[in-house]
Amino acid sequence: MSQPLDLAAIATRKSALTFRDAWQERLERWYAHPGLYRWSLRNPLTRWLTRRRTRKLFDLMAGFVHSQVLLACVRLDLFRALHHAPASLDDLARRTRIAPAVLQRLLLSAVALGLLEHRSQARYGLGPLGVPLAQHEGIAQMIEHNHLLYQDMKDPLQFLGNAWSGGMAEYWPYAHDQTARQAPAADEQAKFTRYSELMAASQGFVIQEILSTYFFDEHRCVLDVGAGRGRFVGELAAHAPHLTFKMFDLPPVLALAREGLQAKGLADRVSLHPGSFIDDPLPEGADLITLVRVAHDHPDAVVRQILKKAHAALPAGGVLLLAEPMAQPEEEAGQPNASADAYFHFYLLAMGAGRLRTPQELKALMEEAGFTHVERVPNPMPIHTRILLGRKSKCLPSDSPNSVN
Ligand SMILES: C[S@@+](CC[C@H](N)C(=O)[O-])C[C@H]1O[C@@H](n2cnc3c(N)ncnc32)[C@H](O)[C@@H]1O
Repeated sequence: MSQPLDLAAIATRKSALTFRDAWQERLERWYAHPGLYRWSLRNPLTRWLTRRRTRKLFDLMAGFVHSQVLLACVRLDLFRALHHAPASLDDLARRTRIAPAVLQRLLLSAVALGLLEHRSQARYGLGPLGVPLAQHEGIAQMIEHNHLLYQDMKDPLQFLGNAWSGGMAEYWPYAHDQTARQAPAADEQAKFTRYSELMAASQGFVIQEILSTYFFDEHRCVLDVGAGRGRFVGELAAHAPHLTFKMFDLPPVLALAREGLQAKGLADRVSLHPGSFIDDPLPEGADLITLVRVAHDHPDAVVRQILKKAHAALPAGGVLLLAEPMAQPEEEAGQPNASADAYFHFYLLAMGAGRLRTPQELKALMEEAGFTHVERVPNPMPIHTRILLGRKSKCLPSDSPNSVN
């Protein structure tokens, strides 16, 4: 890895030994007691707790098998094939050309994981977790893409020694290589096309979170920074017909966006601003800047630059909306979402020099760039994204010659 990585700011307790430390040590000793396991299973009040802990540990151990079952089902296109059309083992074996006794192992595993379900007449249909996979192409594309990450991580210690020697670093040209943002060679263009297509396919859930959470009525013009092929701009344009747009992204990416915008009849409402937020200023004229799944790709120093440039480009009273997956904040510790953090920590490490930040860390970076009234907007599905808003103050900064102290 050629670039130094930033450390996360972990809220540490100052005093040498707290009551909480003593309690945690006591619990650990208690968990380790050789008789506890048998005793807790005999006791109906504690049995469920021990069973749950054992099952969670087993799931951690089996996670690789679970994701391979998922990948095999995606590659065999089972979710789309079985949507509204349950089928028997023999029928599926014929279609997939896999021996029935082997395929049955896969189908039974998929049933156990809730992806498929047994139906009447010995048929298999979609289970509750299989339905979204049949409906949203973007999920299947992310599952296929994750295979790259899992290949990089197959020897985890080697991966920790050099996380950027595999397929993920190769896939994301800008996230670790500062030169990749300049005009790419012809064969490099394919990389920009490939990741931009994946981003567009996987952005649907994020867009839904933003559109269902934030009212755009007060705005006239939106600048989407790191806009990709423009799926967010396209959907927001339909959602809020009064808005006009500016899109900012690397030149090879915006070249891909142009055609799509014309096809959607948006060419008059959207202007394209190719550039790099590392080398160039952001265009002025928008009263809302959106930064969707961008900051986590970059180290703190670059995020500081982007936020400062966003602040400079906004008029007084303008708003920055930052949306991306964030690390679980401390006040939500212990809630089930936390395991998504492990995925994002490793995904972003394999990708480049960015990192998963907590809402508090991003809020601090936004405030440092000059934004005030930075707040979290609660949204229904934080696993897809969390949302922060900050305003450029209408008041003069306190060090301005015109300010009254
Ligand atoms: C993870 S993608 C997110 C795209 C889109 N906002 C979404 O949510 O699907 C990050 C975007 O930031 C763009 N980007 C990366 N480095 C950039 C730079 N230096 N200047 C401008 N855009 C950049 C990438 O080209 C890519 O389109």
